[in-house]
Amino acid sequence: GACNAGCIPDDEKGYELDVFCVPKHYEEDLDRVIIPHGLIMDRTERLARDIVRDMGTHHIVALCVLKGGYKFFADLLDYIKALNQNSDKSVPLTVDFIRLKSYCNDQSTNSVKVIGGDELSTLTGKNVLIVEDIVETGKTMETLLSLLSEYKPKMVKVVSLLVKRTPRSSGYRPDYIGFEVPDSFLVGYALDYNEYFRDLSHICILTEGAKEKYKV
Ligand code: IMP
Ligand code: MG
Repeated sequence: GACNAGCIPDDEKGYELDVFCVPKHYEEDLDRVIIPHGLIMDRTERLARDIVRDMGTHHIVALCVLKGGYKFFADLLDYIKALNQNSDKSVPLTVDFIRLKSYCNDQSTNSVKVIGGDELSTLTGKNVLIVEDIVETGKTMETLLSLLSEYKPKMVKVVSLLVKRTPRSSGYRPDYIGFEVPDSFLVGYALDYNEYFRDLSHICILTEGAKEKYKV
């Protein structure tokens, strides 16, 4: 399909690792930086503006999908706070954190279990902003959305920092997208591979060698 705003094309070359600062322990595992941290921040600042414009001034419950969403969540909320304290209008914000466990016995299933966070019934009548790191097939988000809808929130919007261009997509599109990315495994900025690479500021493509090295 079309490569929309925030598009990182399939042939994106990115930057050599030594252009930026990358932890020594990951130097062998990464080829290039695809989305530098500063670019993530600049895009996030704009997403914050778009979200505040659209969601109005009714109390927002920002719902962080852990663990991968935690960096994006913290930075996005900082930008929303900056808007709140520097304009004539402001929107009250509260936060909640959930983890999602998808059960797939060999095959992908649509069953997603929510762990942690407050009772979902606290979202009834609220404007909910779901903050996610990456949408791949879209199944996780579609399942979470159908679960939330049972609790009758006033409005639900989804912001995902990344959306993968993949033939495995269900067609689901979040309301707000930071970047559309190639169909590769991405790490960094809290996105992990078997819990590694969350401690990397930039978003990078994992090499085949690293997939082997950190395999469980
Ligand atoms: P979906 O249900 O296929 O959309 O899967 C979304 C989830 O898979 C995300 O919340 C991530 O946790 C994980 N995921 C998918 N692609 C990547 C990736 O490239 N890097 C890290 N995690 C990923
Ligand atoms: Mg995730």
